Amino acid sequence: MAYRIIQWGSGNVGAQVTAEVARRSDLTLKALFVYNPDKVGMDAGRVAGIGKLGVKATNSVEQILALDADCVIHAPLSSLVYGDDPEADLKTICALLASGKT
Ligand SMILES: NC(=O)c1ccc[n+]([C@@H]2O[C@H](COP(=O)([O-])OP(=O)(O)OC[C@H]3O[C@@H](n4cnc5c(N)ncnc54)[C@H](OP(=O)(O)O)[C@@H]3O)[C@@H](O)[C@H]2O)c1
Repeated sequence: MAYRIIQWGSGNVGAQVTAEVARRSDLTLKALFVYNPDKVGMDAGRVAGIGKLGVKATNSVEQILALDADCVIHAPLSSLVYGDDPEADLKTICALLASGKT
């Protein structure tokens, strides 16, 4: 059975990961988390610059936490450098782990 993957962030790293997940038969993209409001609702494949994948990009943390998935690939800008809360990444990753994902 393919591992169910959530990609968190769709910049240079996230787009490459999304394309690689789509390419591999042992991985399935379940969700793409984005920050840019213009990307919300776009097909994840289009965000990554490849063909349509049938997964809509979201900025809903609640939706991601509720999703049944195996693994989150966390690749945003670091909250130690960007944003108002340096511990934001730590809090997000703890919440993702608590929701049963690795
Ligand atoms: N590029 C590399 O070669 C490389 C190598 C090693 C490590 N890294 C690290 O990997 C991470 C991603 O790098 P990248 O090259 O993909 O960066 P990037 O192309 O500049 O993309 C920026 C990413 O951060 C997201 N973002 C936007 N606003 C944010 C916010 N307020 N807080 C957190 N994230 C925000 C973007 O969201 P959207 O998805 O909505 O665009 C996008 O996913 C960084 O932490 C970088 O230091 C990168």
